[in-house]
Amino acid sequence: MIGSTTVNPLLAGLLEEQVAQPCTLVIFGGGGDLSKRKLLPAMYNQALEGALPANFALLGVASQPMDDAGYRAFAREGIEAYSRRPLDEQHWPDFEHLLHYESGSFEDPQTYVRIKQRLQQIEPEFGIPGNRVFYLAIPPALIETCVRNLNEAGLVYPAAPGSPFSRVIVEKPIGHDLQSAKQVNDVLGRNLDESQIYRIDHYLGKETVQNILVMRFGNSIFEPLWNHNHIDHVQITVAEAEGVGTRAGYYDHAGALRDMVQNHILQLLTLIAMEPPWAMRADVIRDHRQDVLNCLRPITPDKIDQHVVRAQYGPGYHEGFDVPGYRREEGVGPESITETYVALKVFIDNWRWAGVPFYIRTGKRMTKRASEIAVHFKSTPPILFNADPNHPLEQNVLALSIQPNEGLSLRIATKLPGPKVRIFPVKMDFRYGSTFGDQSPEAYERLMLDVMAGDATLFMRRDAVERSWMFIEDILDAWQSSGVRWLPEYTAGTWGPVEAERMIEADDHRWRLL
Ligand code: BG6
Repeated sequence: MIGSTTVNPLLAGLLEEQVAQPCTLVIFGGGGDLSKRKLLPAMYNQALEGALPANFALLGVASQPMDDAGYRAFAREGIEAYSRRPLDEQHWPDFEHLLHYESGSFEDPQTYVRIKQRLQQIEPEFGIPGNRVFYLAIPPALIETCVRNLNEAGLVYPAAPGSPFSRVIVEKPIGHDLQSAKQVNDVLGRNLDESQIYRIDHYLGKETVQNILVMRFGNSIFEPLWNHNHIDHVQITVAEAEGVGTRAGYYDHAGALRDMVQNHILQLLTLIAMEPPWAMRADVIRDHRQDVLNCLRPITPDKIDQHVVRAQYGPGYHEGFDVPGYRREEGVGPESITETYVALKVFIDNWRWAGVPFYIRTGKRMTKRASEIAVHFKSTPPILFNADPNHPLEQNVLALSIQPNEGLSLRIATKLPGPKVRIFPVKMDFRYGSTFGDQSPEAYERLMLDVMAGDATLFMRRDAVERSWMFIEDILDAWQSSGVRWLPEYTAGTWGPVEAERMIEADDHRWRLL
């Protein structure tokens, strides 16, 4: 253990049942952007907090020629630039000692032979009993080669009680549509047991997202109201201020629906809408999340215009500077019809949620980075304080702010002080920052420890990935057959297209101002 052991109180509660086991973390793509920005800083923070297993080592694998010293310098650069906690010179030598590197092509079986030899040196040196976690931070096209080679080289063992574990973490995207997702899952399934596969969705590791279950089932006041009798509608917003950046190569073939809705946002929806689980066990929770996906009402071609809006950002402003429209971004063709914004109206056809619309919106180059889930409760009856149809009372809203400024607030009506009865909506507000004082752990910190502990609760099971694609694919098919050659535009730096306003206003609702 290095450094202090300040643990976020919410995280502490959840960690009690899980202990990360001694293991070697092997990162394929260890020299890439994800490793530099997220994975290596995540491991560093966990080391500082004393949360890593006592017997632990990390082996980065990538094509760049580098030795261990080079990799340690690479990790240091990433940690200095992106770590939540600043690099601590005093403890750095302890951490860098854990880092190793092997260069090679993922397609070359010899690379895997060398990895095996390295592990055979590292494991006894660090007292690791053969447990291995392989993180595939690699392009989707390489997953098959990598998993097959891992298996053929004998680097992963069959899952068996009492023997060392080998687990594989797979990054999104899992496929491009239902069929390709099934192919990826088939490849994984041929080489690994489902219990060894951890499909990561980093949204599930966010502190505020985990808090959804604590809020719903750790309090007695919400659950009785959590249904169509009391909830009018729910709004889920995941807005980003950044544009496509340097990722056009991937993004222009994906778009907002595939990139954000198929995975992150549908998972948020499942946590908000699921039935109370009967145990905090991975499969119980995943079954309950799956039930929500199973109840999603398909968006059929005749409904697409009323239920889905897609758009692309045009030129505009970001942080006071002119920014180009999407089609002028580097790597994007001038005729691209990839959506950078999507809004949906979704229904969950079960008893609890009958008739309650869930409005979802996500986009790049919006006014600001802000993600929130807002639960709007039904209005009071139109009597007493709500009797004047020209001045209806505002609905109670429970808003969970996912990022930034994590927290939750409840909007309630109060009387303005004074001789007359005048009503004013106020917010009861809780912010993680002001209450707990510490910066929340990054999603990857929590998720990697969960894999080391063998807890798959916050990971996507095969059926969840495929069911989400089924839902999304109806929309993709309708878009494809529409033959459109241009998309509505919204000005960069705004809240999205007017079409999305119209969609929600048709139901007498408005998007929340964030
Ligand atoms: C990724 C998407 O999964 O999530 C990106 O591919 C997106 O396009 C990112 O920017 C958003 O993650 P976060 O944690 O910054 O909200």
